[in-house]
Amino acid sequence: MREQLDNLLQEAGAALQAAVDLEQVAAWRLAYLGRKGRVTNAIKAVSTLSPEERPAYGQRVNEVKQELEAAYLAWVEALKQAERERSLVADQVDVTLPGRPVRPGRLHPITRTLRDIYRIFAEMGFQVYRSLDVETDDFNFGLLNIPPDHPARDMWATFYTMTPGVILRTHTSPGQIRAMRQYYPEPIRVVLPGTCYRYEQITARADIMFNQVEGLAVGQAITMADLKGTIADFARRMFGEGRRVRFRASYFPFTEPSAEVDMDCNLCAGRGCRVCKNTGWVEIMGAGMVHPVVLRNGGYDPAVYTGFACGMGVERIAMLKFGIEDIRYFWGNDLRFLEQFS
Ligand code: DAH
Repeated sequence: MREQLDNLLQEAGAALQAAVDLEQVAAWRLAYLGRKGRVTNAIKAVSTLSPEERPAYGQRVNEVKQELEAAYLAWVEALKQAERERSLVADQVDVTLPGRPVRPGRLHPITRTLRDIYRIFAEMGFQVYRSLDVETDDFNFGLLNIPPDHPARDMWATFYTMTPGVILRTHTSPGQIRAMRQYYPEPIRVVLPGTCYRYEQITARADIMFNQVEGLAVGQAITMADLKGTIADFARRMFGEGRRVRFRASYFPFTEPSAEVDMDCNLCAGRGCRVCKNTGWVEIMGAGMVHPVVLRNGGYDPAVYTGFACGMGVERIAMLKFGIEDIRYFWGNDLRFLEQFS
């Protein structure tokens, strides 16, 4: 009997040493110490012995069990320790290797231009007013003195939605009405930035999605001289001290009088180049005195208040500023283009 137990102990010990990972050790534990394991069976065998044999056998079999349990725990610990050491070696980091370069992001040229515009207008007392990309026909046209079927609507090729009367704004001017209705009766000095959408052929000069910034000032003594001064100042702060501007009479339904504003070409200093088509002048925005109908639609009595407005294409300003000749570069997401603006 005793011999059998010694053999069992020896055999189990050897089998444990042969278990080289935690999975095998778990199988060993089941085979020897589990509920139907061989050591457990040996303990159960006590009941088959005569009363004289039982004490010695019982004591020995308990010793065997305790010894194997201790060996089991020690072996598991040894295996885990070995695994830790292995992974420490395997996962070693060579701190002397050169680092991988981190490629910093940069602001999109349109974002930079927008921020320049905000800063310049902020210095002149204008704050940013955010309006809506999805507008109603009424705000985009009607309230701006462009009634349904008015031929001036042809100036803005419109994206319509499935909802009647709801469109993508074709310009930032509808924000004028929203700002006026919010601020009445306070005087207003705001710039309204935003994406505009037009259903047009995409060319080097026109895209279907682009940015505008609208300027709006409303008060009790605002004149055309304020408009000219503000725009001339903007052109000089944006494009350089020496810039000159000129106003060409034009037509917009929401301003009276209306003008288109030209600046002497900043790329050739007015001498004539490809960008200004050898005229020496480039158009930078539309502008005018807010039409009485528009003032009234915004809640301001045109007998008491006047105002000026202007609207510029941000891509166009950026093209002039950086000498870019094709508007499609801006939204083409070509890193070779974008990385030039750091
Ligand atoms: N909304 C016009 C457009 O998109 C631009 C414009 C012209 C805005 C004259 C104005 C303005 O505020 O006074 O073509």
